[in-house]
Amino acid sequence: MSDPLLIYGATGYTGRCITAAAVALGLRPILCGRAAPKLKAFAEPLGLDFRVAALTEPHQLAAALGGVKVVLHAAGPFSSTSRPMIDACLRAGTHYLDITGEIPVIEALVRRDTEARAQRIMIMPAVGFDVVPSDCLAAHVARRLPTASRLAIGLSGLRFATRGSAKTLAEHVGYGVLVRRDGLITAVAPGAWSRRFDYGAGPRESLTISWGDVSTAFYTTGIPNIEVYFEATPMLRAMLMASRYLGGILNTAPWQMWLKTCAEMLPEGQREEERAASAMAIVVEADDGARRRASARLRTPEAYSFTGVTAAAIAQRVLNNDIEVGFQTPARLYGADFVLALAGVHREDLD
Ligand SMILES: NC(=O)c1ccc[n+]([C@@H]2O[C@H](COP(=O)([O-])OP(=O)(O)OC[C@H]3O[C@@H](n4cnc5c(N)ncnc54)[C@H](OP(=O)(O)O)[C@@H]3O)[C@@H](O)[C@H]2O)c1
Repeated sequence: MSDPLLIYGATGYTGRCITAAAVALGLRPILCGRAAPKLKAFAEPLGLDFRVAALTEPHQLAAALGGVKVVLHAAGPFSSTSRPMIDACLRAGTHYLDITGEIPVIEALVRRDTEARAQRIMIMPAVGFDVVPSDCLAAHVARRLPTASRLAIGLSGLRFATRGSAKTLAEHVGYGVLVRRDGLITAVAPGAWSRRFDYGAGPRESLTISWGDVSTAFYTTGIPNIEVYFEATPMLRAMLMASRYLGGILNTAPWQMWLKTCAEMLPEGQREEERAASAMAIVVEADDGARRRASARLRTPEAYSFTGVTAAAIAQRVLNNDIEVGFQTPARLYGADFVLALAGVHREDLD
C-alpha cells in the first residue's frame, strides 16, 4: 500500500537518495517523473508504485496528484520546475516540499503564501542540505543572541556537484552573489567578500556564495543581514573569478547551452561508499553591532546523502499532519533542534 507521498524527479541522483531515505523510514512513496522507462526500472525492484507526468502537462500533473497528500519535488533546476508543480499543488490542495537552494525560487514561493493559506496547504522549499542544517543552526544561534542583527554562515566539505547541481549553478553565473542587507536581497561582486571560519581545523578563508539561507534564515530568525560563505577551495575561487570577469558572456543563451552541455558530461554523482566517507561542517556566527556575539558549529553527513535524510524526515512529519499552512521554513516550523535527531549530526557552541 502506497503512502500519499509523491516524490517527483525520483529517478535523478538526489531523487534516488531521497527515495532510499524514505524507504529506510518505512515509507512507501509513489515515484513520479516524466520518463516512464526510468521510473519503471527504478520503482519495480523496490516494489513501489510509479506515475508518469510531464511538468508541461497540467492535466497529467493533476492526475498524478490524485490521492496524494504531499509532493516532495526533487527535479531541478527549480527555476523552471517549481512553478508548474506549485500551481498543480495549489489546484489539488496538496502540500508542497522541494529541495531547491535557488534564492529567487524560494522568494517566488514566499509570494504564494496567501494562496497556500486559502487552499490550506503548506509550502516548504529547501528541505535538503541547503537549507535544513544551516537553518536549524541559524535558529539555534539566534535564540542564543536574541538581539542579533547579522548572521554569517560558513560551509565546508562540499567537494562534488552532481550534473543537476552543476546545471543549476550554471544558471547563476554572472548575476553576482546574493546577500541580504537590511532585509532586502542584493547582489555583490563574486569573490569580493571573504571571511575566516573555523570548521574544526583552524580558521579557513571562505568566500560569499548565493545559498538558500540568504532567503530562508530571514523568515526563520527575522535577522535582516545575512551572508553565506563557502570554504575557498581552488575550484570555488576559479568559479567566482569566471563569474566575475566573464559573467556577462557566460549568462548569454549560447554559453548557457554550452555550460549545461558540459554539466551533462560530468559523472552523475559520487558512489554511496564515497559519500559515506565525506562529511560537512557548518558554522554560524551572529553579532548585534554592539560587540555581543554568538556562534556554533554543526557537523553532518555528506550533503547529497543528508539531503535524502532531511527531505524524507520532513515528508514523514507532513504525513503525520505536523504542518502549518502557508509558506514555512524548516527550522521555523520544526525548531532549531530538529536536525539533532538525525544520525551523524553534532552541534557545539563556540563561545
Ligand atoms: N538544496 C539541496 O540541498 C540540494 C541537494 C541536491 C540537489 N539539489 C538540486 O536538486 C536538483 C536535482 O539534482 P540531481 O543531483 O538529482 O540532478 P540529476 O541527477 O540531473 O536529476 C535531475 C532530475 O530532475 C528531472 N528533471 C529535470 N528537469 C525536468 C523537467 N523540466 N521536467 C521533469 N523532470 C525534470 C530529471 O528527469 P529526467 O531524468 O527525465 O531528465 C531528473 O529526474 C538540482 O537542481 C540540484 O541543484 C539541491
